[in-house]
Amino acid sequence: MAKKREKFGGRLAVILAMAGSAIGLGNIWRFPYMAGEHGGAAFVIVYIFATLLISLPVFLAEVMIGRRSHTNARDAFARLSRQHPFWKAAGYLTILIPTLIASYYSVIGGWSVEYFIKACSLSFLHTPADEISGLFGPFVSSAWTPVVLHLFFMGICVGVVAGGVKSGIEKFSKVSLPVLFVLVVVILAYSVSLPGARQGVQYLLHPDWSELTPRTFAYAMGQSFYSLSLGMGAIITYGSYVSKKENILVTSTGTAVSDLLFAILAGFAIMPAVFAAGIEPGAGPGLIFQSVPYVFARMGATLPVLSSVMAILFFLTIIVAAMTSLISLVEVGVSFLMERKGLTRGRACWVVFAVCGGLGTLCSLSFGPLAGVTVGGMSLFDLLDWICSNILLLVMALLAVAFVGWVLPRRVVRDEFTNGGTVNGRIFPVVLFLIKWVAPVAVLIIFCTNFIL
Ligand code: PHE
Repeated sequence: MAKKREKFGGRLAVILAMAGSAIGLGNIWRFPYMAGEHGGAAFVIVYIFATLLISLPVFLAEVMIGRRSHTNARDAFARLSRQHPFWKAAGYLTILIPTLIASYYSVIGGWSVEYFIKACSLSFLHTPADEISGLFGPFVSSAWTPVVLHLFFMGICVGVVAGGVKSGIEKFSKVSLPVLFVLVVVILAYSVSLPGARQGVQYLLHPDWSELTPRTFAYAMGQSFYSLSLGMGAIITYGSYVSKKENILVTSTGTAVSDLLFAILAGFAIMPAVFAAGIEPGAGPGLIFQSVPYVFARMGATLPVLSSVMAILFFLTIIVAAMTSLISLVEVGVSFLMERKGLTRGRACWVVFAVCGGLGTLCSLSFGPLAGVTVGGMSLFDLLDWICSNILLLVMALLAVAFVGWVLPRRVVRDEFTNGGTVNGRIFPVVLFLIKWVAPVAVLIIFCTNFIL
């Protein structure tokens, strides 16, 4: 007899685990600099609409695929389409994408560990503020430290996954998410109290409509997909651990709203500090590793203890947030290897560690010794990020909504949405319309905008 499949232990557990996957570097690292580069409040407003009207339906579609098929992401499409060859092949994408993303995501996790160590050893106090942002380049391009830290970071996350769905993933998310929330609120309070922080708050509150170009829309939607972990098999996999009794509209909305709130909180935690230190808001991806430490160094001159504590808390926040997300990526491959290849959880974890650890090592080295190896002018790290976020993720999200909207019989989708008629399905037609028409058209538009504009 087949072994009983694991599942999450209740509504709160589902929301916390899914929000753990969603809340990550995307919220703390990517969202503030994207908002900074694309018009502040104007971007935030588009982002809120994109999340509620487009990403949330895609999220629901993925949860439905996972829960209905009750299996790993690779087999989910195959099972629900009765082994249709196209959908069987599409299923492989759901394994490929998280494997690629996990590899380079963990490299950034390793950088956060380095900065956490720097904060603990008070090096932001001992380095002149103007030299702080200069620490980043030599560190990422050095050969071994980033690789070792990446493997360490990956190792811990794989270790949590090895504990299983309930006693590993669920337990970890239950503790880490509330901690994360408290940490970000503390940082926010500190940040807005800095002299000169007002401008940063205003930047996020007063929209500059002239910045609203088609590109802003495309970026806001892309960011919202990334932030909700869509198009990567992660939500399909977590969806497969959701009990048949759970109201998925409630859990999905809960997750999307927490993710949204967290991104906005992170924006308000980071932007005011950036303005207070007189840094360009559009400084780009280096914002949290270059600009934010600069803020801590400047504050350190007058308030050394407070600034050191805040620096430690800040990088701890990033580490915890990145861990829960990486865990969800690792679980995709692990559940596939267990169910399809018959490996034990422990063995599957080792395989994922070896593959993602190896690929991530190459990504990490692509900042230093392998910097000369480029494809189309991009290093391996940039190439993976580009292919995943601009192509694969969108293709996968499109496949998921097309599958639920057009391939699965309406009766099945309705049944899944209403838990067999036991949950109120009044808004089902609206949700189905969003899944069938609005989301696919939006994904196609982002896709074209990314390539044409
Ligand atoms: N959603 C995560 C973030 O915001 C990233 C992620 C993507 C995690 C895909 C898992 C799967 O950082």
